[in-house]
Amino acid sequence: MFDKRKFPKKLADLISARKENFSLRKLNYNYPIIDFSSNDYLGFSSHGLLNEELQSLKKSIKVGSTGSRLISGNSSLFNEVETEIATFHHDESSLLFNSGYDANVGLLSSLPQKGDLILYDELIHASIIDGVRLSFATHYKFEHNSIIDLEQLLKRHINSFNEIYIVVESVYSMDGDHSPLKEIVALTKTYNSNLIVDEAHAIGVLGQHGRGLCNELNIEKDCFARIYTYGKALGCHGASVVGSNDLKEYLINYARSFIYTTAMPEHSLLAIKAAYILLEKTNEIEELKKNIEYFNNQLNSNLDFIESRSAIHCILKSGNIAVQQLEEKLAKDNFFVKSIKSPTVKTYKERIRICLHSFNTKEEIDNLLLLISE
Ligand SMILES: Cc1ncc(COP(=O)(O)O)c(C=O)c1O
Repeated sequence: MFDKRKFPKKLADLISARKENFSLRKLNYNYPIIDFSSNDYLGFSSHGLLNEELQSLKKSIKVGSTGSRLISGNSSLFNEVETEIATFHHDESSLLFNSGYDANVGLLSSLPQKGDLILYDELIHASIIDGVRLSFATHYKFEHNSIIDLEQLLKRHINSFNEIYIVVESVYSMDGDHSPLKEIVALTKTYNSNLIVDEAHAIGVLGQHGRGLCNELNIEKDCFARIYTYGKALGCHGASVVGSNDLKEYLINYARSFIYTTAMPEHSLLAIKAAYILLEKTNEIEELKKNIEYFNNQLNSNLDFIESRSAIHCILKSGNIAVQQLEEKLAKDNFFVKSIKSPTVKTYKERIRICLHSFNTKEEIDNLLLLISE
């Protein structure tokens, strides 16, 4: 008899292949205690002060938002929080999305048109790749952080397209290194192109009060759009696209991941508002910076690491099995550190990815590095 629920063989083979090369993804919840893995860089997700701030903002709020923002889900609170976000990031406006994934897919799929060109860093986040794939614009990737490669592409294509968009992360999520943003801004001026910067891993870590790398480098006004996500250092959920009023109006009209989804609930909005308030008061950013400096000073030159002054640090170790074994060994000593395997990263570039936090102790850092070096 025909079995309606029989899983297609082609798909089952894909899962078997993942099992064979030790790259099968699985959901876990039983995390080791010492956190060197989450994106909660400042410990905001369970921070007493953030909770206090949130409680003081909560009046009588609705649990659900009842609809998309263009139907019944909007409120004056959205307006208030978006105005505060734009002010904090020194720009005209901001538009909230339910996640960074939604923000990137909505922005990249709707903004660049047929006849436009998107140039993006080869290590760009999957959410941007997915947005680019949905767009009708032509797109090419350039070598990671290579100004030379980017300039060659710009020279070659400058006269063949209407608009050119250059898309980068300020801090790369898998390598933890910075984008050469100053040099890229110079190229946007020479080649009349638009810069889009995803600041997911820079907010809360870099810049004045954690405003991000664009703030640190004083290039906020040189960006066409910036993306700030709230599920990482801010310990909440959601994201915003920051830019001009024209950009906001356009996205409200054309970004499908904004239009066709239920608005975030007021609780999430207030959590974002409270996290921004706390950013201006907290000493966690300083504590995180101290830990980043300490970690870099303790790094042993025998280790093959990627230089980073962000919260993300990678120690390379070739092979999926090798990094998986190291992850398991560290977990036995209660260290929560994730191995990053191919195909998420290139083969032979497998790694242990260490996320530093404000709340990690020096002793924890010492012990972790000792275990990895053994
Ligand atoms: C660079 C970057 N952009 C966007 C996202 C997506 O953000 P969110 O988790 O809020 O969907 C991530 C998350 O992994 C990221 O690392």
